[in-house]
Amino acid sequence: MRLLVVYYSRTGNTRKVAEKIASLLGCDFDEIVDLKNRKGPFGFLGAGYSAFARKLTEIRAPDKDPSAYDLLVVGTPIWAGNITPAVRTYLTKIAPEGAPQRKYALFYTSYSSDQRKAVRDFSTLIRGDPVATLSVLHKDVRAGGFESRLQGFVDALLSSEKAG
Ligand SMILES: Cc1cc2nc3c(=O)[nH]c(=O)nc-3n(C[C@H](O)[C@H](O)[C@H](O)COP(=O)(O)O)c2cc1C
Repeated sequence: MRLLVVYYSRTGNTRKVAEKIASLLGCDFDEIVDLKNRKGPFGFLGAGYSAFARKLTEIRAPDKDPSAYDLLVVGTPIWAGNITPAVRTYLTKIAPEGAPQRKYALFYTSYSSDQRKAVRDFSTLIRGDPVATLSVLHKDVRAGGFESRLQGFVDALLSSEKAG
């Protein structure tokens, strides 16, 4: 089974977690790039509104073709209680191509950990439940030392890989 970590990150927290997960799994990773400018106060407000309203956005064509992977480990920041527009766009337009049996896992970074609405939304988009879900707090990424929180998630991914 081939694993791919794909993530969107505006300010680097989700990227740090993604890179660590990919290195623990020894698998490929790819960044989802939002072509919309999310910088500055207007970018921030637009980001929150677009996530709240479940909008799609324009994303760059991915470097890695997801149809070559059986398990996609998807990382997103939480914006306004939701997954980001870039990840929503990837899950809607890119990931479903040629992979009906694919499994998914979700990790997110946010100020607070209980993000049930976002997890439900993710499940709706992938038409099933993620094989594992991980929440990492913004403050823990910034302070460092979040790595110890990843092992249970990585173990769940490896056992779902074995289950085929
Ligand atoms: C527009 C916007 C909206 C946000 N909304 C939430 C939220 O509703 N709940 C929360 O816990 N964190 C929220 N956050 C905090 C981010 O989820 C958190 O800082 C995250 O780690 C950022 O990830 P990144 O550095 O990969 O972009 C929000 C951040 C932004 C920029």
